[in-house]
Amino acid sequence: MKTKNPTLHQQIRDLAKAKKAIILAHNYQPAQIQDVADLCGDSLEMSIKAAATDADIIVCCGVRFMAETAAILCPDKIVLLPNLDAGCPMADMVTPEALVKRKKELGGIPVVTYVNSSAAVKAVSDICCTSANVIKVLNTLKEDEVLMTPDRNLAMYAAANTDKKVHLWEGYCPCHNDLSVEAVKASKAAHPQALFIAHPECPPNVLELADSIQSTSGMIRFAGESSADQFIIGTETGLIYPISKAHPKKTFFPVSDQLVCTDMKKTRLQDIWDCLENMSGRVVVEEAVRIKALAAVKKMINIK
Ligand code: 13P
Ligand code: SF4
Repeated sequence: MKTKNPTLHQQIRDLAKAKKAIILAHNYQPAQIQDVADLCGDSLEMSIKAAATDADIIVCCGVRFMAETAAILCPDKIVLLPNLDAGCPMADMVTPEALVKRKKELGGIPVVTYVNSSAAVKAVSDICCTSANVIKVLNTLKEDEVLMTPDRNLAMYAAANTDKKVHLWEGYCPCHNDLSVEAVKASKAAHPQALFIAHPECPPNVLELADSIQSTSGMIRFAGESSADQFIIGTETGLIYPISKAHPKKTFFPVSDQLVCTDMKKTRLQDIWDCLENMSGRVVVEEAVRIKALAAVKKMINIK
């Protein structure tokens, strides 16, 4: 699949080199954005890369919480979000005030916050997690009871796979949460040889039908390690591009063409060039918030 706009693609690469910038892209980004990036990955990989880079500028092609996470980890670097309108509806389903209140009602139990959240929410959390490490994160906590926010589906998945009592927050990803059992069954009937890999943001009745539950990069690894050669992909349709590129001899079917995150599709090549050229789209996290959020993000990244 040829996706590059050769002129603009090369201009972006030249500009990134001249400005000592690294371009990170999430696995759901449009194909031409993934192609121009230095690194594509899931939320965990993007945070780890941001924490380790020696670039002066981090261009974060994804949604706002990803750029905020980079800004939390790298206060001395310039973090740019090419399209400032790219947000995450699930991240907006929790506020720091409501979270502090709920934690108090529950007697101060640890709050485990999915990285799909604002910096302000991370700042009042004990530890962060991603879809790739949620079970590991819960298992590192000595307490038996936790409050997880904002994704209730991820929390139910974690509860089913640990011994912890998990209190839910009523947030969800609108696109994953809408995936129905009927759509999965129809896809399985159409592709009877295929394994079904699902993202933990899907509802529990969908996860019950999965052969494997993975983060986006986990899906790419799973497909490589599996002896199967056909897969139904139960996550945002953008993943079809990197997973097919990584495993060109295998076949991948989106479980539903409705599973599209409009925010993840907002980045255009021109936005990347513009933000690098004009140093626009800068994401800064207020220092008092950053210091507290950093503790929760660092605790997660330091888990081996
Ligand atoms: P991961 O790529 O970390 O699995 O996250 C999925 C997601 O919804 C990001 O917004
Ligand atoms: Fe948020 Fe869902 Fe989009 Fe991820 S896919 S950015 S969780 S709305």
